[in-house]
Amino acid sequence: MIVYFTGTGNSRWCAQRIAEKLDDACTDAFPYLRENLGAELFSERPWVFVAPTYAWQAPRIFADFLRASHLSGSRDAYFVLTCGGETGDAETHLAALCRETGLNFRGLAPVVMPDNYLVLFRTPQPDEARAMVEAARPKVDAAAQRILAGEDFPTLRPTAADRLKSGPVNEGMYRFFIKTKPFTVSDACVSCGKCAAGCPMNGIGMKDGRPVWNGRCTHCMACICGCPVSAIEYGRASRGKARYQCPDV
Ligand SMILES: Cc1cc2nc3c(=O)[nH]c(=O)nc-3n(C[C@H](O)[C@H](O)[C@H](O)COP(=O)(O)O)c2cc1C
Repeated sequence: MIVYFTGTGNSRWCAQRIAEKLDDACTDAFPYLRENLGAELFSERPWVFVAPTYAWQAPRIFADFLRASHLSGSRDAYFVLTCGGETGDAETHLAALCRETGLNFRGLAPVVMPDNYLVLFRTPQPDEARAMVEAARPKVDAAAQRILAGEDFPTLRPTAADRLKSGPVNEGMYRFFIKTKPFTVSDACVSCGKCAAGCPMNGIGMKDGRPVWNGRCTHCMACICGCPVSAIEYGRASRGKARYQCPDV
């Protein structure tokens, strides 16, 4: 079974493509994350967990969801992390997560896709994004092929810098950088409530027809990128940047 988490659709695209290649079921973790619950799931075939990379690791909410879940059947776990550039030493942390949860770590396959982190980076324009997603296909298909063949993903070789990024830099980012205070909403807001409904942490309420952030946030970019009228900004960091959604390719 393929289990995925996504903020802006890259990981859903990737998970659905793998599910198609493996002819296996695909489950969105969103309803569980939203309720802060683990899942009771059964799979005879290997587990394939697909998620974005956050600060050179799998997202904390996704790792916590796996810790809280009861996964029965197969013990084999493959991880596919979509990323804007690189996953650092996420592999070591995922192998540790597997030891903790009684899963057999079969490896990590990073898949480079458009970067959605408009708080820090430039997001691609639609044409550029489409080409990047198309370019990711062979990597996803090769990962699916390995799973079908029952092979481990190739081991990645982390450098000292990778360990630093996935370790202390990751910690620092969650502690000091992932905040909701800079989110603002403009008069363009049409009170559709899409931002509130799409938040995987149930961290947005609606007051007088406007979103209000309650502090629970993992910077997944679903609210800011999913707003149909681009009424949400993140301080000055998001101004003038393309709102990213994985294109349908
Ligand atoms: C909070 C946050 C942190 C990120 N950190 C990294 C990172 O460490 N390395 C990287 O290559 N991309 C990073 N990215 C980019 C995403 O991992 C990438 O765009 C991913 O494919 C988005 O997946 P999604 O569309 O399924 O949410 C980050 C994005 C966000 C929102």
